[in-house]
Amino acid sequence: MNATHVPVMLQEVVETLALVPGATVVDGTLGLAGHASEMGTMIAPGGLLVGLDWDKEMLDKAKKRLAELKNVEVRTYHSDYRALPECLRRACVETGRDPVADAVLLDLGLSNVHIEDPAYGISFLREGPLDMRFDKTRGEPASAWLNRASAREIEDVLFSLGDERWARKISQFIVERRKVRPLRTTTDLVECVHAAIPAAKRDKRIHPATRTFQAVRIHTNKELDELEEALKRIADILKKGGVMCVLSYHSGEDRAVKHAFRDLGRGGGYEEVHKKPVVPTDAEIAANSKARSAKLRALRRVS
Ligand SMILES: C[S@@+](CC[C@H](N)C(=O)[O-])C[C@H]1O[C@@H](n2cnc3c(N)ncnc32)[C@H](O)[C@@H]1O
Repeated sequence: MNATHVPVMLQEVVETLALVPGATVVDGTLGLAGHASEMGTMIAPGGLLVGLDWDKEMLDKAKKRLAELKNVEVRTYHSDYRALPECLRRACVETGRDPVADAVLLDLGLSNVHIEDPAYGISFLREGPLDMRFDKTRGEPASAWLNRASAREIEDVLFSLGDERWARKISQFIVERRKVRPLRTTTDLVECVHAAIPAAKRDKRIHPATRTFQAVRIHTNKELDELEEALKRIADILKKGGVMCVLSYHSGEDRAVKHAFRDLGRGGGYEEVHKKPVVPTDAEIAANSKARSAKLRALRRVS
């Protein structure tokens, strides 16, 4: 599987981070290292690039790409970005630097590779095991939860994490369906959604299973759990003048980022770099439709 991923708002991110040679940079969501390779080039010579991803296969791909960087120290970790401060400390001990960062990037969510590769079970367009985990060493596949949870629990997740107004109907169809045969594949879940939403009532702009798949994926990976607290801990490792950029792709993520940055700004030690979240240009969206929902927020440490 040789899927690619185009880094979103690359120009806006590097301009906001204002990287210089020798800087220490952390990319908490390496993916295929699209942003990271550009950042690595900008901090040469003498910089330190620390990269994390909780998907081991993705991390291995990123490592290969980052091996091409010259005159930069690179350290990578198979880790959740909630442990970013600990990873930075380890990298700084190994390289003899102060454990503080000039720049941090979090490009939340999933890579195009996760959508294109049916083995992840994340895409409603490709038949695969109904797994959805980024990190197969943790948690349980989405199918295990969908085959066990009550209709009410499933409805709550679809509504709160997917804004799915057909949440009740879909959850009822899932529970009925699994009485006959447990859900095993992405197609099984797509069929429940199709059965629940009458054709005439479907939103024509997006696939009817979009919201359900988003909600179940976020729930399976606990993507929003303690996000606000994690962002505050990460802000704490910024050097004075250091900047953290976060790219988010749906309202739940953006809300957590907004709240964390607002709270930190009130304390006086940080300020938001942009008055409003930066969004992709029309030209970028035309070239890469996956950038459509992106929002960039940035926070600078001022004291
Ligand atoms: C949008 S992609 C990043 C793309 C990357 N910026 C690039 O240009 O190639 C998000 C990546 O973050 C990873 N990820 C998502 N949540 C994570 C978390 N909590 N901890 C660590 N990695 C995470 C995913 O596995 C995925 O590879």
